[in-house]
Amino acid sequence: MARIIAIANQKGGVGKTTTAVNLAASLASSEKRTLIVDSDPQGNATSALGFAKDPARRTLYQTLILAEPIERVVMDSQIDLLDLIPSDKNLVGAAIELISMENREYKLKQSLQPLREKYDFILIDCPPSLDILTVNALAASDAVLVPVQCEFLALEGVSELLDTLARLRRAINPSLAIEGILLTMYDDRTTLSKQVAADLRSFFGAQIFDSIIPRNVRLAEAPSHGMPVIFYDIHSRGAESYIQLAREVIANAEKRVGSGTERADQGAGAPAASAAAASAGGNAGNSGSSSSGSGAGPE
Ligand SMILES: Nc1ncnc2c1ncn2[C@@H]1O[C@H](COP(=O)(O)OP(=O)(O)OP(=O)(O)O)[C@@H](O)[C@H]1O
Ligand SMILES: [Mg+2]
Repeated sequence: MARIIAIANQKGGVGKTTTAVNLAASLASSEKRTLIVDSDPQGNATSALGFAKDPARRTLYQTLILAEPIERVVMDSQIDLLDLIPSDKNLVGAAIELISMENREYKLKQSLQPLREKYDFILIDCPPSLDILTVNALAASDAVLVPVQCEFLALEGVSELLDTLARLRRAINPSLAIEGILLTMYDDRTTLSKQVAADLRSFFGAQIFDSIIPRNVRLAEAPSHGMPVIFYDIHSRGAESYIQLAREVIANAEKRVGSGTERADQGAGAPAASAAAASAGGNAGNSGSSSSGSGAGPE
């Protein structure tokens, strides 16, 4: 049964697509059957996997709006064990058309149902907003992975986002967990990066992945060659960091199966609560841990 993970952050350019594509490829290279769902009308994950724009190609739009069987929009990515549901700009239309549909928040969840047995992991690349497409992704997912760029005000941004996720959890998907917060574009030569990483760690504790994605030019170059970084330059620091992240994600999934819990009690509520405690002047420590499998979030 696939673990479905949305890669989401309403902020643009923080490394969502880079993470979706490279984590997916690293999972596939670890023998995990993986599907990447491009749920962003920009179609960046689709092009990063080497698919040029093609108006004739079926995309997520056909499934979400025209109710075509999802098997017909799944493509072989050309990488072993990695499949893709592509996107293109028509998905903007889906965002508008969904608004007037019944059960509009759960269309993607319904669509993905027949695929759950076929994959070990399904990663959904979200657009940079909290629109209906992102809500669909979060409604369909077991967990959300939040990439955060190591920059000024990152802490405030994550706190707000987790607060929003807590609300969404209550309204749409009570079992949505936090897979983890991923520090991206980390530059160990700058004090700012180090300071931001230290602040995030002290605030969110074990909810931050151990793996950190460095700023690495190979990661930026790989999409223009239409391939994930592990095929473009396996020895780059970017490739190593995503392979390490995949190990963490796999280990977390195995721990979860071992303990027989889905940790719905540790979703967005915990950090939101600690953020609230902080803004109230309280001592906000680490009150939840998605990656260690321990600790419970008050809700
Ligand atoms: N670790 C990294 N090192 C260097 N460049 C990176 C890194 N991660 C992402 N980039 C580059 O930064 C830009 C934004 O990354 P990406 O497209 O993954 O972000 P995004 O969150 O998906 O953006 P959007 O919100 O527009 O969907 C891209 O040009 C990408 O190649
Ligand atoms: Mg993107």
